Amino acid sequence: MATVITVTSGKGGVGKTTSSAAIGTGLAMRGHKTVIIDFDVGLRNLDLIMGCERRVVFDFVNVINGEANLSQALIKDKRIDNLFIFPTSQTRDKDALTMQGVEKVLTDLASQGFEYIVCDSPAGIEHGAITALYFADEAVIVTNPEVSSVRDSDRILGILASKSRRAVRGEAPVKEHLLITRFSPTRVERGEMLGIKDVQDILAIPLMGVIPESMAVLKASNTGTPVILDEQSEAGQAYKDAVGRFLGEQRPLRFLEMPKKGLFQKIFKVAAS
Ligand SMILES: Nc1ncnc2c1ncn2[C@@H]1O[C@H](COP(=O)(O)OP(=O)(O)OP(=O)(O)O)[C@@H](O)[C@H]1O
Ligand SMILES: [Mg+2]
Repeated sequence: MATVITVTSGKGGVGKTTSSAAIGTGLAMRGHKTVIIDFDVGLRNLDLIMGCERRVVFDFVNVINGEANLSQALIKDKRIDNLFIFPTSQTRDKDALTMQGVEKVLTDLASQGFEYIVCDSPAGIEHGAITALYFADEAVIVTNPEVSSVRDSDRILGILASKSRRAVRGEAPVKEHLLITRFSPTRVERGEMLGIKDVQDILAIPLMGVIPESMAVLKASNTGTPVILDEQSEAGQAYKDAVGRFLGEQRPLRFLEMPKKGLFQKIFKVAAS
C-alpha cells in the first residue's frame, strides 16, 4: 500500500518544494521506495531543486494525456537508491491535471511498489492544490511562524477535513503534520515572529519539525541538492529529525535557541551598558 503525502501550505513561498525534496529524499534514505511529484503545473521547481532539470523529457501532464508512460517520465535520482522524481509540465493550462488522470497515476505508482508518494503542492487553493489535497493520506502543513501563513494553514486544515477523498468517503481522516519552516530564534526574541508554541496553539496538530532559517537552503537549491544531503547544515539535520518523527521516532527539537554569545560579544555588551 502506498501512502500519499501531500506537502501543502495555503500561503506561497513558505518552503513546500524545499520540504518536499528534503522529506522525499529522507524517506528514500531510510530505505523506502519514494517518488516526489511536482503538482505545481506551470511553474515546475522541483526538478531544479532536485538537480535533474536537464533529464526531464516527459512529464506529469504527458502521462495524464497518454503521450508517455510512467516509466518514461519518472527520473531516478543518481545519488539515492529508491528515489524518483516525477516532474510537471510548464504548460499554462492549470486544469491539465484531471482528477481521473491523477487517480490513475497514483494507482499505477502504488502498483509499481512505491511506498511513499510525496506531492509537492502549489500555493493557494486553486485546482492543482485542491487535487493534491484531495488524494492525501497524510498532509505536511508547511507554515512560517507569521500570522498570515498560520491563518492560511488553518484554512487548508478546513479543506482537508471536508474536501479530501478520505473526508468525502467517510474514511479515517487525513493524518496531519505541522512543519514550521524558516524559523529564526533571533526574530522571535525581537517580537517579529510567532513562537513555536503560538503556532502550535493555533493550529493544534502534531509538530513534525522546526526547520531553522538557513543560508544552506539557498546554497543547496542553487546546486540542485536537497538540503537534507547537507549533513553539516542545521536545516539538513532538522529535516532528518523531521523524517524520523514522521516515521514514528521520538526526537527532541533542536536549533530553537539563539546562537550562544561569544566571550567578546559578552564583554562588549558589559562595556556598552
Ligand atoms: N529554512 C529555510 N531557510 C532559508 N530559506 C528558505 C528556507 N526554506 C525555504 N527557503 C527559501 O524560500 C524560498 C521559497 O521556498 P520554496 O520554493 O520551497 O517555497 P514554496 O512554498 O514551494 O513556494 P511556492 O508557493 O512558490 O511553490 C526559496 O528561495 C527557498 O530557498
Ligand atoms: Mg513550490
